[in-house]
Amino acid sequence: MALTEIDPARAAADLLAWYAEMGVDAMLDEEPHDRFAEAVPVQRAPPPPPQTEQRPAAFAGASASADDVEAQARMLARSARSLDELRALLQGFEGCALKLTARSLVFADGDPEGRVMFVGEAPGAEEDRSGLPFVGRSGQLLDRMLAAIGLDRTQVYVANVIPWRPPGNRTPTPQELATCLPFVARQIELSKAEILVCLGGPSAQSLLGVTDGIQRTRGRWMDYDAGSRRIKALATLHPAYLLRQPLQKRLAWRDFKMIRAALDG
Ligand code: URA
Repeated sequence: MALTEIDPARAAADLLAWYAEMGVDAMLDEEPHDRFAEAVPVQRAPPPPPQTEQRPAAFAGASASADDVEAQARMLARSARSLDELRALLQGFEGCALKLTARSLVFADGDPEGRVMFVGEAPGAEEDRSGLPFVGRSGQLLDRMLAAIGLDRTQVYVANVIPWRPPGNRTPTPQELATCLPFVARQIELSKAEILVCLGGPSAQSLLGVTDGIQRTRGRWMDYDAGSRRIKALATLHPAYLLRQPLQKRLAWRDFKMIRAALDG
């Protein structure tokens, strides 16, 4: 091919790669969409549950209010008797509009029997593509932080307070956090974690009920009510924040040493 000839397939691939790098990773229509109004679409009837006992339906009604959706999320989450059931229920749950724009349900990674559970905010583009939490740059930093205290991904359990990627990686709304909270709370209950680590402000605020920012909340043990047991909980800085503010890694290092000491103690 002459130097001046352009290969259209290659040019298109290069353009797409450039868009992705610039953060343009969603196709938009000519007309705006109100995704909040689409939050609770008209539903098909749910498939019959495998059990004979009465289970709550996995679908909100067409006119469900935010309160109805939260109540339904609580009922569904409570009904899950295993993490597999919880994942299946979440897969069928139509009460959160983020599901409409996300490619994957990003449920968890690692070992649910591990002694520590890390809960981040929400999946990003790479997590949405792979279906696994913390696989992008933040995840790579998280892996290095784990290694620094002698742990790896196979020994801990990792999830997010929001299991679907918010478009453009925006911060989840309070409504989205409230809707998804019962599911992640049940996920913690059903895991065997003895220590809960909240990565970043939204995770700490949602799970620990704190209203202060992460800088005030991080670095001190709190109690977390995981249903039938109480476990230790610690908030720390989110790896994505540490990538932007590397000097803050010394604070996260203190927090991670607290986790190591608690595991050894
Ligand atoms: N940030 C998060 O909070 N969670 C992920 O899974 C990835 C990035």
